[in-house]
Amino acid sequence: MVKKVGIVGLGQMGGGIAQIAASGYRVVANEVSEELIDRGLGGIEKRLNKAVEKEKISKEDRDKILGNIETSTELESLADCDLVIEAVIEDMMTKKEVFGELDKICKPETILATNTSSLPVGDLSTATGRRDKFVGLHFFNPVPIMKLVEVVRTLDTSNETFETAKSFAESLGKVVVSAKDSPGFVVNVLLIPYLLDGIRHFENGLASREDIDNAMKLGCGHPMGPLTLTDFIGLDTTLYIADIFFNEFKDNRYAAPPLLRRMVNAGYLGKKSGRGFYDYRQ
Ligand code: CAA
Repeated sequence: MVKKVGIVGLGQMGGGIAQIAASGYRVVANEVSEELIDRGLGGIEKRLNKAVEKEKISKEDRDKILGNIETSTELESLADCDLVIEAVIEDMMTKKEVFGELDKICKPETILATNTSSLPVGDLSTATGRRDKFVGLHFFNPVPIMKLVEVVRTLDTSNETFETAKSFAESLGKVVVSAKDSPGFVVNVLLIPYLLDGIRHFENGLASREDIDNAMKLGCGHPMGPLTLTDFIGLDTTLYIADIFFNEFKDNRYAAPPLLRRMVNAGYLGKKSGRGFYDYRQ
């Protein structure tokens, strides 16, 4: 049974996961520096304060959630967690290093989970001696708002681990879909080619960026058009995922349009860098 949850990485995804987990669990949030902890906690506090302002939660709820989060720059602090969710940068070596360490540090029963959106979960599990207790728990951005979690089982994930991960996600109010350990699971394997097509059509001059986005918003009821959504996810992240898919499937539907690569190389990373398909600097 999960009582204490570790989160490694307190960025956009890890911060969101820590925030929602702390409403029902004790959370130990790990980052590599105090500065990154302050930034992550600051983001959580800001979102909770907004929710208090909107009268979605009480001040007491906010204080309880914040009080449930313990922070640390040492992975050792995660030793007695029942579940540890990794949300560090999308890099195989970095993630494997984290999992190799966690495997040594955590108690034998601890379930290790990755929030990877594109790397094979089974490959990550090989850094540990507990492949049966390893699972993918893929949240969506913004984590407190998006209702979905993909729970990904590898060839080795035990039924018990899968069920515990699924129950945990459901206890956070999320709806779970179960996916095979195949690149992009369900959502990204469908979403990324759509975003790449949006960029390709913009590059080819089909319509203006606003018209492409409005067409999909107003014609199909999407909350954001493809170019706004790429800005939101990050152009670098989108390119990175597309390249992984292309290498895996060797299918042109995953080939990154030249414009996307040019923009990433020029530092146009989307909302987080101030500029992407749109300008967010004002
Ligand atoms: N973090 C937390 N909460 C946020 C937020 C953020 N970054 N941005 C907005 N919100 C919250 C607001 O506080 C508001 O909450 P309440 O309803 O409780 O008041 C709610 O979201 C709606 O916000 P707004 O009214 O300001 O704006 P909106 O109606 O335009 O909604 C949105 C914003 C929820 C982001 C919406 O545009 C949306 O759903 N966009 C699509 C997001 C999407 O597709 N995400 C998946 C990306 S793919 C991914 O994550 C997978 C991957 O691996 C790459």
